[in-house]
Amino acid sequence: MKGRCQRIVTLTCYDALFARLLDAAGVDVLLVGDSVNQVLAAADTTLSATLEQMIYHTKLVARGAARALVICDMPFMTYQISREDALRNCGRVLAETGCHAVKLEGGHAIAATVRALVDVGIPVMGHLGLTPQSVHALGGYRVQGRDAAAAARLLDDAQALADAGAFAVVLELIPAPLASRITKALTIPTIGIGAGPACDGQVLVLHDMLGLNEGFNPKFLKRYAALAEDVREAVRRFAAEVREGRYPGAEHSVEQ
Ligand code: KIV
Repeated sequence: MKGRCQRIVTLTCYDALFARLLDAAGVDVLLVGDSVNQVLAAADTTLSATLEQMIYHTKLVARGAARALVICDMPFMTYQISREDALRNCGRVLAETGCHAVKLEGGHAIAATVRALVDVGIPVMGHLGLTPQSVHALGGYRVQGRDAAAAARLLDDAQALADAGAFAVVLELIPAPLASRITKALTIPTIGIGAGPACDGQVLVLHDMLGLNEGFNPKFLKRYAALAEDVREAVRRFAAEVREGRYPGAEHSVEQ
């Protein structure tokens, strides 16, 4: 798709129902992000997401997807401790869930692990810039790669992932000109989130772009629906009809 200049449409997805809807709407990549821990489980960070949790949600998404590429985000500490651990855990994810690839956060530090995974047939997507599993080391959820030295490091990390065999890399929350430089330098596609328009594809968290997560308002987020208000309104109407004895009506009841 990069070669044909076709932008890669990516959304996060955590269950079979949405997977079916997104797949039918033509989404190219369904990313089972460890953001599930924040979006559905209301945790403050992704750090407490577990391997079992990711395997469960990835199985659901793979079950619902007919055509899209399904990628599982490997949770914190399932690939950083040793190469053996990474091979065992990523292998489990691929074997047990029906997904097609895994995503790991980091650059040079994990390049040898990426190479080992790719060598045994496990496709790997990288993730650079604001890497949420390093939120405490980064001092919060803030833009990365603003100064020249940090930008050079990110470019170098991206090249290291590509050289190690990663098939794509997520660029999160970095200045648009830097994302453009990285995108031009790599032969593999970049998928941006808060990284400007030059990336080869874009990803958003599904519940954010559907307007279900009203408390989250970063500059890069565009809402394509206002489903939280739709949900509240539908539930208010249901409650009123139940309380007033207007639901169920004769058309919703079996007489005999
Ligand atoms: O966990 C996640 O949802 C992600 C995307 C935001 C890229 O990593």
